Amino acid sequence: MVDEAFAPVTSELYMPDEEIVRNAYVQDYEALYAEAQQNLEEFWAKQAEKLHWFQKWDRVLDRSQAPFFKWFVGAKTNIVYNALDRHVKTWRKNKVALIFEGEPGDQRSYSYWRLWKETNKFANVLRSMGVKKGDRVTIYMGRTPELIIAMLACAKIGAIHSVIYGGFSEQAIADRIEDAQSRLLITSDGAWLRGNIVRLKDIADEAVKRSPVIETVIVVKRTGHEIHMEQGRDYWYHDLMSLPIASPNCESEVMDAEDPLFILYTSGTTGKPKGVLHTHGGYQVYVSSTLQWVFDIKDEDRYWCAADPGWITGHSYIVYGPLILGATSLLYEGAPAYPYPNRWWRLIEEYGITILYTAPTAIRGLMRFGDAWPNRHNLSSLRLLGSVGEPINPEAWRWYYRVIGKERCPIMDTWWQTETGGFMISPVPSVALKPGSATRPLPGIDVDVVDDQGVPCPPGVDGNLVVKQPWPGMLRTVYGDPDRYVQQYWSQYADKGWYLTGDSARKDEDGYIWVIGRNDDVIKVSGYRLGTAEIESGLVSHEAVAEAAVIGVPDQVRGNVIYAYCILRSGYQPSDRLREELKEHIRHEVGPIAVPAKIEFTDTLPKTRSGKIMRRVLRARALGMPEGDLSTLEE
Ligand code: PRX
Repeated sequence: MVDEAFAPVTSELYMPDEEIVRNAYVQDYEALYAEAQQNLEEFWAKQAEKLHWFQKWDRVLDRSQAPFFKWFVGAKTNIVYNALDRHVKTWRKNKVALIFEGEPGDQRSYSYWRLWKETNKFANVLRSMGVKKGDRVTIYMGRTPELIIAMLACAKIGAIHSVIYGGFSEQAIADRIEDAQSRLLITSDGAWLRGNIVRLKDIADEAVKRSPVIETVIVVKRTGHEIHMEQGRDYWYHDLMSLPIASPNCESEVMDAEDPLFILYTSGTTGKPKGVLHTHGGYQVYVSSTLQWVFDIKDEDRYWCAADPGWITGHSYIVYGPLILGATSLLYEGAPAYPYPNRWWRLIEEYGITILYTAPTAIRGLMRFGDAWPNRHNLSSLRLLGSVGEPINPEAWRWYYRVIGKERCPIMDTWWQTETGGFMISPVPSVALKPGSATRPLPGIDVDVVDDQGVPCPPGVDGNLVVKQPWPGMLRTVYGDPDRYVQQYWSQYADKGWYLTGDSARKDEDGYIWVIGRNDDVIKVSGYRLGTAEIESGLVSHEAVAEAAVIGVPDQVRGNVIYAYCILRSGYQPSDRLREELKEHIRHEVGPIAVPAKIEFTDTLPKTRSGKIMRRVLRARALGMPEGDLSTLEE
């Protein structure tokens, strides 16, 4: 999805402030990078030493079954021990771990002690309901502390959590439950969004109807509206938490470093979502190290990652990374511009936020409302800014830098993926920045931009972004589908053993990487990763649609929006009503984020002779651009 609107500009260079460099955890990027290059295993072992292990590893990295790499082989640990248990034995027991503000304005805060205790209680509830090590638990909730507690409670007892983002709907949830074969679902009655209630429990009920593998549903009361509770299947969270089974003491299960921690579904080239699998050992080392390097978290900081815990950004940098580092984080439930476009700026002022990590789409969305909204607030507590999810266009970068950061706060443009577990290409606060570039790979990460044969592209030439060495935070497999893991990520450069990211990128003369976008059938809408195939299969599941193709088209705020092309079955006529019906259908099947901005009815779709839809042609037509090489077009 190459988007010329975001074409890199290489001429600007922003040097870091002297004081920022002086205080930065990584003062000398080059030196740390060189150290890792010299001895990769020693380097990662050194990072791992900072954490607690019930038993140390025999080997740092086992490549013998590549690409099924193993990290910290033989070690015993539990990520929750590092995120909570060890802190309550120190002064951090009394430190604020989490500050929560709901969209209606309600506030709560959790010390490490309280978060630990609530986690223990819920872990005991789960255990008493028969959840065991290795069981999959699906979580579908709004952005509240109970979501975090549910994740931690699962991990604590060795269950594997599968969090589904609250913006997904019936079929998407059902598919993910089915794939994980989870018997327990944790949800909430609803969530607040833009002053309205998103009726999560109703959606969850429908999903469970479609995937009856679920035996038990635990429901957190958030919005308090009337919902259906199925006798013998559904239980209120607060009821369970008040029973004697919810004891506040719970030992963390001793896990093998390579035991699974979570599955997180993400979109790929087929309609079936991929369950990206991460583990306890390597992942904890990777997320805590990278968070320390990039966001330089100090005990005095109040850090706010405004993502959703239901995405990898939330897993790694709202939940696990910050807690392992003993940080204080803010969690905000609702929409950025509710009730007014100053909500976020007010939150920063109210809580004295020092580090803000968000996505270009949010920045562009808020930028639209003008400078007056942020300027009305004192944002001087901020010292670092961050961006993730898609390339940040230089215009948004500059606004973020000037209006929010007041030209004092460097922007950490972090490139990474669900699969990578943590930041891969990113500045640290002490390096020079170029707006629109994620700069260079982090220590221990070896990336390159290469052509289809694996030959490195010279500066300025687009190619495939690859990772040439394994790293501790890498996915271990696609849940239940190891072949797909090999095929998707390791087959194109199998002879070289490189990981294929699926992104296209270019390097510049200084070795800075400019990520351009996805090479495959993945569309980034507001930073959310959607597979064309999943939306297309959603469309054809409607009785009127015979065939469908969707593409991403650049949009000023959302990065991309979806255009859909549908061939109707005989007997159905194109109409605006049908268009609206199809949008509603997608809202239900996949989720509101997947609703096409435009639906066109057509008699034919451009296809190759082998029947593959040529989305490139549709895209060129939609943008009024030349259609390029049509030699493979069937008709
Ligand atoms: O295309 C890249 C884009 O987001 C993709 C990964 O999406 P997902 O797995 O949902 O994870 C998003 C949060 C880590 C990548 O393949 N992407 C992510 N960050 C950036 C980016 N593109 C450009 N610049 C970034 N900073």
